[in-house]
Amino acid sequence: MVVTDKKIYIETYGCQMNVADSEVVLGILGNEGYAPINSPETADLILVNTCSVRDNAEKRVHQRLTELRAYKQNNPEVLIGVLGCMAERLRTELIEKNNVVDIVVGPDEYRKLPKLVEDAYAGQRGIAVKLSRVESYDDITPLRTEGITAWLSVMRGCDKFCTFCVVPFTRGRERSRTLTSVVEEVRKLSEQGVKEVTLLGQNVNSYKDSNYDFTDLLQEVASVDRTMRIRYTTSHPQDMSDKLIEVMAKNDNICKYIHLPVQSGSDRILKLMNRTYTIDHYLNLMKKIRLAMPEVAFSTDIISGFPTETVEDHQMTLEVMKEVRYDGAYMFKYSPRENTKAWNMNDDVDDKEKGRRLNEIVLLQEAISNEINQSMIGKTVKILVENDSSRSSDDLMGRTDTNKKVVFPRGNALIGEYRTVTIERATAHTLIGTLTAGENA
Ligand code: SAH
Ligand code: SF4
Ligand code: F3S
Repeated sequence: MVVTDKKIYIETYGCQMNVADSEVVLGILGNEGYAPINSPETADLILVNTCSVRDNAEKRVHQRLTELRAYKQNNPEVLIGVLGCMAERLRTELIEKNNVVDIVVGPDEYRKLPKLVEDAYAGQRGIAVKLSRVESYDDITPLRTEGITAWLSVMRGCDKFCTFCVVPFTRGRERSRTLTSVVEEVRKLSEQGVKEVTLLGQNVNSYKDSNYDFTDLLQEVASVDRTMRIRYTTSHPQDMSDKLIEVMAKNDNICKYIHLPVQSGSDRILKLMNRTYTIDHYLNLMKKIRLAMPEVAFSTDIISGFPTETVEDHQMTLEVMKEVRYDGAYMFKYSPRENTKAWNMNDDVDDKEKGRRLNEIVLLQEAISNEINQSMIGKTVKILVENDSSRSSDDLMGRTDTNKKVVFPRGNALIGEYRTVTIERATAHTLIGTLTAGENA
């Protein structure tokens, strides 16, 4: 294949796995000479890595494709490609209904991108959307652009089939990377100065490489470099094992932050969702985790207005939130997705009522997050300095082990250092403080 000097711009929607996939895509195309740039204006190839999880995620992408049409009108040589979950779900529809799209590539077909792009430049629009039982991009070096933090997919796909969720259809069956290749990649990242790695999977508990499970992988990864923070997401509440809790508790560099999506506080709704746990199980699990790691922080995902959800069911969700006191939450209105089991259930909570319930959930969470953060005032916390603050160039942003954002005047601190900060003010989403004088943490 001819190596090119073309410029590529990629825009990413959806979950962190898509962020990691975009880096894989840049890795694959980088080998052919494509150089990444940060805006679409001068790009030869514009890729949009898409999400199908809710209808509004898809609407946003359709809207964006309409906007991107302008770049093609200015320069007919520009190619536009749709990647990711919408490519998988909508396939030919994207090319047929939308004359702005030249190539459509599903999540397991990124190795074909160089060929598809080449064909498209020769006038042949192309589609590749087969799902694979084995593809894990194990041997591809992703082109990372996030500085001192890195995402690393350790497994792909999902076999859980929660009845609301399109992911098993857009990402296909579960499969894992090898333990040795993950550990090797983490070692390389450490050598490159990366300070935090987040292991990714829709359901990391299903990780499997011959006799190794996720806890073995986590232990191995944590042992690579003790100055490197290790995070992971997502663990399914049904499958989170005692062994996982133990490995987290005994490794100081595994962050004490767990995203544990509850979805609903009602056992009846959880059953309809095929979540396979009860609230009793969930709360006991949380107790066990807190006993092993008293400092742990939790976040969750919650859906409002799943089919047949009553005001009483909704109330149970609020009760669970009050009982657990999550540090943070991602909260959504139920959105029916084609092919899922729930698609055939009657979407009987009207949009206004879904919105009203969601609003109550959001307000309660804001209040809880705010209370938890206010209680941090006066405390001194250890942070990893990650970035310039988005608000002011005088400030830096770092995170605590428990994933709380901390903003502070930069002083002599550098990105990539561990420092301590004393918290002076707090909002529901951010802690604000000043560097503690003296040594690095
Ligand atoms: N694998 C992860 C999450 C994947 S999707 C897990 O199991 O937790 C992220 C979140 O989107 C889900 O946890 C759920 O809360 C939400 N979600 C998924 N499908 C949805 C739908 N059809 N409508 C509304 N929210 C949805
Ligand atoms: Fe979707 Fe459930 Fe799989 Fe998460 S575990 S990706 S919510 S099917
Ligand atoms: Fe969206 Fe696909 Fe992730 S549907 S949430 S981008 S797996």
